[in-house]
Amino acid sequence: MLDINKLQSRNLFEQSENIESKDALPSSLQPGTPMSEIINTMISRRSFLRGSIAAGAAGVLGLGLSACSVEDLDGTEIQIQDDSATITAGNGAGARAEALNFDSVMPSSADFVTLPEGYSARVFYAYGDPINDTLPPFGNDGNEAGTEFDFRSGDHHDGIYFFGMDADGNFDPSVSDRGILCVNHENITQRLMHAGEPSVDENGNRTNVDEVRKEQRAHGVSCVEIRRSPGSNNFEVVTGSPYNRRITSLTATEMTGPAAGSELLQTRFSPSGTNGRGTLNNCGHGFTPWGTYLACEENYDLYFRNDNVVAAEAVGDAVTPDVANGFANFLSGAGVRVESGLYGWATLAGHPEEQDDEFARFNITPTGASATEDYRNEANQYGYIVEIDPFNPNAAPRKRTGLGRFAHEGCWPSNPVVGQPMAFYMGDDDQLQFIYKFVSDNLYDGPASGESALQTGDRFMNEGTLYVARFVDYGNGQLSGDWIPLTPENPVLQAANASGPFAGLFGTIESILVHARGAAFSVGATPMDRPEWSAVDPNTGEIYLTLTNNSDRRAFTDADEAARVAGDEGSRDEVTEFLADREFGVDSANPRGPNSDGHIIRMRESGDTTAATTFTWDIFLFGSNIADRPEGNFSGLDISNEFTDCDGLWFDNAGVLWIQTDGGQPNDSNDQMLAAIPDRVGEGGITPENSNDRLRRFLVGPVDCEITGITQTPDRRTLFINVQHPGQDRDVVANDPSTFTSNWPAATGADAGEQGAAGTRARSATIMITRDDGGLIGSDFTA
Ligand code: FEO
Ligand code: CA
Ligand code: CA
Ligand code: CA
Repeated sequence: MLDINKLQSRNLFEQSENIESKDALPSSLQPGTPMSEIINTMISRRSFLRGSIAAGAAGVLGLGLSACSVEDLDGTEIQIQDDSATITAGNGAGARAEALNFDSVMPSSADFVTLPEGYSARVFYAYGDPINDTLPPFGNDGNEAGTEFDFRSGDHHDGIYFFGMDADGNFDPSVSDRGILCVNHENITQRLMHAGEPSVDENGNRTNVDEVRKEQRAHGVSCVEIRRSPGSNNFEVVTGSPYNRRITSLTATEMTGPAAGSELLQTRFSPSGTNGRGTLNNCGHGFTPWGTYLACEENYDLYFRNDNVVAAEAVGDAVTPDVANGFANFLSGAGVRVESGLYGWATLAGHPEEQDDEFARFNITPTGASATEDYRNEANQYGYIVEIDPFNPNAAPRKRTGLGRFAHEGCWPSNPVVGQPMAFYMGDDDQLQFIYKFVSDNLYDGPASGESALQTGDRFMNEGTLYVARFVDYGNGQLSGDWIPLTPENPVLQAANASGPFAGLFGTIESILVHARGAAFSVGATPMDRPEWSAVDPNTGEIYLTLTNNSDRRAFTDADEAARVAGDEGSRDEVTEFLADREFGVDSANPRGPNSDGHIIRMRESGDTTAATTFTWDIFLFGSNIADRPEGNFSGLDISNEFTDCDGLWFDNAGVLWIQTDGGQPNDSNDQMLAAIPDRVGEGGITPENSNDRLRRFLVGPVDCEITGITQTPDRRTLFINVQHPGQDRDVVANDPSTFTSNWPAATGADAGEQGAAGTRARSATIMITRDDGGLIGSDFTA
């Protein structure tokens, strides 16, 4: 299907140049504009907006802006509706928290969880904890059988959501005392999960079936019933609840949406291309108003082996595989970033104990006469949004192909409005990848009587349109953007389908969805600085996304041909290689190159409708390492709220925005969580004038962890967050405690602020945070 010779073609680059005609570019993006000027323009705009708001002129630039128009890239006029009287994508309530109720905690390198004065946390649900009544407590010595993890917590806790449950066992978003907690298990700390080192032979092939079965089952999702202990805000896991469930990389799944049943999804397991097994690398998440959980599949490509790439590498064929790697990876390919598969699961294929191709399916090398005789398409069944009904533990998860196939991070729904389409906002976490939204064909009318939750999902997540975002700076104070449809009817995709390196990939909707990255690039979407989680303001419907960092963002203006040809320092990854020297410099939406510290971008739909095809936007907050990169500290951070590498993002129901980090933090601090008081698109965001009041550090985690995943009870008195992979270090050896960098947590049920005993193997865990006086968490706002 793919012609390697075409990879050197410049056609694609030229095509994209034509889409963004230089004549139409605003002055700030003209070739030769230095990055400093772009940033200065942006900063002065932010200052101008702040001044206007302070002078009471917010009605001109912010909330009450009357409809105005600007010219679109092709010269057509687009209307920017901005009328606060017709907020339809939000609940319109408007009232929200205007102050945080805690003082910032300072950076910390301690091996425990640090919280503000008056707050406490307990370790709630940790790797290995049983979810039934028959298994013994977790031994944490690597000796449990692999298959036990069908009923034990998986590893690497990530996205998380609390679904309130009424007395009849139905979803009730107003219930705080009983619910189902859904938790993603993105990955594993392989070196701490077996009795010793993972077993391999002299060729690096796996030898122990049980070890691989454990690793496969430690991935996926947990759904566990939890209940509040009477008289407190603390919860317990109801072990043995009929709702308790592990979804792993083996659980039966159904492919749904336009790509289901297509040739691209056919495998030996499912010749019809409609059924699959399991979910992998579930990082960010989402939920639906009808009470289902959305697990996102991020770096699924890592797990698959391609013998052809392995063989090419073995004979030193340095050119062809590199190009092939780059191209395949750009398309969300598999068996390329790690040629043998991340954990070598496929190397156990053909083992006498193998059942149902449990290992063979991770080898995507074509070996049969057709796709129905091997697993060449197995990886095409991953990279989706996976809808799970927590209240029906027997229902197979449904993969929603309509929302596209890429390295999915967050998938947050629009605030549901009866009579409007549902929208889902999504990031693709890789350098220079894109921001997407899916808009349902059906107008939202709530669940219909008699239909199951997943049938409701069928109505709002199967038929619809996948759009990708293009951010535009018109240079006149107007930051606008377009949602570009990825459909066979889009003439730009038709052209890319006719010729160029992606020729033949965009003729059908199923192929467009499976190759969403290539389609997004082809239509001239804006390559972003690694989009991670999305969040939707419950009051306004505005959409926030974390852009975690980007070492490949170049330190020159994107349109600066002279600088591009001259090249610059920095890494060159598979994407830039594939694009045959195409390099992406800074633009107004990604204004720092390289982007070492990350930022948060936000959007407002035109007319506040989910069906909008244009939006306005600005940058809400810039991460910064003040000591190393003071020139980039545009939000005026100081030691009380300095952070980098934002990743997790979530609004509580008081309108407080919570921000979590994944990356080395300034001041040798461990990863952390902050809380912010947002304003609205166009109002300036976090600035040196307001940052101390509006952005505070709430928590710092233990050593070598990532803080990711956050949810709360609707009464805001219990907050759950995840501590992922504490103590994950490349030099850790399971049976040599002297190599451990963390011993957290001490035990399930322990104070999260307690240090574990020396020799304790660190574990990923959900922790439960409460206020010592039983009060509201984060802010004192009440509706
Ligand atoms: Fe799994 Fe994009 O972090
Ligand atoms: Ca790179
Ligand atoms: Ca993440
Ligand atoms: Ca991350």
